[in-house]
Order: sequence, then C-alpha cells, then structure tokens
Amino acid sequence: MSNQRTHDGLVLVGTRAPYEVRKFPTISPKGDEIMVNIKWTASTPLDLHQADGGLLVEHPMRTGSTGAGIVAEVGTDVKHFQVGDRVFGFAHQKPEWKTHQEYATAPAWVFGKIPEGFSLEEAVTLPENLVTAFNTIATDLKLPTPWPKPADYEPPRANERILVWGAASSVGQLTIQVLKYYGYKHIIGTASSNHHAYIKKIGASEVYDYRSPSIVDDLLRSAQRSEAPVFPLIIDCIGSQERTLAPISKVAQNGSTVAVMLPVIVKHASDETVPEYSMDAGDSVAWATGVNVTGVRTHFYWKNEMFREKLQMEIMPTLLAQGIVQPNRYRVVEGQTLLERATKGLDAMREGASGEKVVWRVSNE
Ligand SMILES: NC(=O)c1ccc[n+]([C@@H]2O[C@H](COP(=O)([O-])OP(=O)(O)OC[C@H]3O[C@@H](n4cnc5c(N)ncnc54)[C@H](OP(=O)(O)O)[C@@H]3O)[C@@H](O)[C@H]2O)c1
Repeated sequence: MSNQRTHDGLVLVGTRAPYEVRKFPTISPKGDEIMVNIKWTASTPLDLHQADGGLLVEHPMRTGSTGAGIVAEVGTDVKHFQVGDRVFGFAHQKPEWKTHQEYATAPAWVFGKIPEGFSLEEAVTLPENLVTAFNTIATDLKLPTPWPKPADYEPPRANERILVWGAASSVGQLTIQVLKYYGYKHIIGTASSNHHAYIKKIGASEVYDYRSPSIVDDLLRSAQRSEAPVFPLIIDCIGSQERTLAPISKVAQNGSTVAVMLPVIVKHASDETVPEYSMDAGDSVAWATGVNVTGVRTHFYWKNEMFREKLQMEIMPTLLAQGIVQPNRYRVVEGQTLLERATKGLDAMREGASGEKVVWRVSNE
C-alpha cells in the first residue's frame, strides 16, 4: 500500500461541464521549491474562459493561478522562506503549482511574503494582475521598470498620454498604480461612472465613461488638437472585440501602441452562447495605418529574468507594504465545500464582477 499523501484539488473535466474535486499527490518540495497550504484564491476571467470556452485547456485540467496561504515545507536550497510564512503568488505553469488545490508545490520565485497588516484574502487580490501590469508595461509597451527604482527616477515618456481602457478592472487598477509609481503623469482611464472617484484616487488624471455614446469623441477631444497621436500608449484591459477593441481602434492613431489583454473575446459567453476567442488582436478589428498592436501574454513574464527573480518575491511585497499598490476591493464567496465555493465563484464571473475581486477559501480550515 502506498504512503503517498494526497489533497483535494479542483479540475475541469469538460467545456461548460461543472467543476469536479479530485485527489492529487501532495508533493514534497525539492531544491528551490516550497509547498504552500493554499488558504485563499480568486476566481478570474481566465477561469471563465477556460471553463466555458475551453481556452487553451486539455481536460482534465487543474485550475487556479492566484493563491495565498501558509508555507508548509521548503526545499533544501530555499533561503527566503520558512515553514509558517504567510505567502501570496501567481502560480500557473504546472498542475502541481495551481492554486485551486489545498497544497501547491512550486518554485519559491512565484511567491512573496505577505506584509504585516494585510490579511490573506486582501493579499490574494494582487498577484496575477500585479504581474500582468508589470509585464504589460515592460514587455508590450516597452517602458522600463527599474528595480530598485532610483530615487530621482524620471521615466523616458513621462509626459505622454496613456489610455487605460477598463480602468476599474483588476488589471486596470494595478496598471494605473504601477504607472503612477514609475512617474507617468498623464494616465487617462475609462470606467463606469461609479468608479471614477476611486480611479482618480489611485492615479488617473482623467476618467471617462466608456458607456457614453460619445466616448470616442470625448477621448479624442481630451488633448490639444496639435497632439498626434492623442494617445501614444493604450492598454485595453478587457480585450472584447466589439466592446473595447472597436472603440479603441477609433481612438488609436498612427504612432499609437496598443497592448490588448488576450484572449480577444469574439463572442461573450451567455447561458445559450458558447464564447469564442481569438489570440490575434491585430486582426480582430481594422486598425489605422501605423498603429502597433500587441497581445499581452502574461503567462510568459518569467522570460524576463529580473521579473522571475524579483517580481513576486521582492517587488510585490514591497509595493504592498509601502502602500504603493492597494489590494483590490473584494467580495468573499461562502460555501460549505471547495466545490461549492469554486462553483459560486465561477458563477460570479459569469455574472461579471464590477471593480472587485471574487475571493474564496480553498482549504476548509
Ligand atoms: N493576457 C494576459 O496576460 C491577461 C492577464 C490578466 C488578465 N487578462 C484578461 O484581461 C481581462 C480582464 O481581467 P481582470 O481580472 O482585470 O477582470 P475583472 O477585474 O473581472 O474586470 C471587471 C471589470 O471590467 C470592466 N469592463 C467590462 N467591460 C468593459 C468595457 N467594455 N469597457 C471598459 N471596462 C469594462 C468593468 O468595469 P466597470 O465596473 O467600470 O463597468 C469591471 O469592473 C480578462 O479577459 C482576463 O482574462 C489577460
């Protein structure tokens, strides 16, 4: 008989099929790995793209890429963490790293220590999209993100207008805060009007209502006529062909760079409609000549050596501890079991979260 330890983990077994809970081997960490008892996670739009659209999924697939918990064991080479540390991280690459399971075993560099004064559920709102914000700014917009940031740092394009479309999204909120930290002075957001005050508080100089029929004209009129392009740098934090790329394609001008969160949602999911996605933002709408369109793929952020070494272990905890980034506002999904909480979390994604993360407990205790 095997003495292999096991734990519960969530799996997707089919497109638009309910989640299932299965037993998985609990893996002792080796070398630079740590094993984390995952206490909290978040449901994300990616969970929905995977569950309802089968996006880049091979069934059965373990889910969850953002987690917070307690270090249970450490590998022999680990210096930064000790058993009992409270940690948070974006851990997505392998089934054993995933965070919708009670124990994740992953390299230490996908986690950081949660600073004093922050709860696990607050901390779990950050990792995936703080990493996304850094990756988008550095990889797609090609703006430097020096660390440590020199005391007198002035970024190269400090005075250029940066449009963050979907500023109330988790990606948008964190992108604005990171841009502000690096010294960008003209961050313009779009969001529903109930979020405008908050978006300004975290760093945008102007915010426009994307639901307004005159949104494109409002944005194009927001700069001096002589300026071209009006928005040299644009981030589409949503990536919907019809709802965001279509209006953004009217705002982007010759010389604009547009970074689009992939996947492009070609058809949104509903009870009747199976969603459709595209991984090509350049082909999704007609862009003006001279617009440079890039599709953001945060799953490859680790190719940036500095990000791999420092982004989660050092930068993320420091920015949170110093109040440079705020935890997202969040809503807790309750339920008796892992399966119930996860299912309700996914339903909340189907309904659409507005300005808040949907978080839930993974381990029961
Ligand atoms: N490719 C990548 O590397 C990557 C990484 C992370 C996320 N993503 C993708 O990025 C998208 C956003 O993720 P998230 O976690 O930030 O989502 P989220 O926090 O759940 O986004 C919800 C927000 O989206 C806003 N929104 C919805 N439709 C909008 C529209 N037409 N225009 C402007 N804002 C709109 C809503 O704003 P209001 O409340 O103001 O209405 C809402 O607050 C998802 O599709 C996700 O899969 C991609």
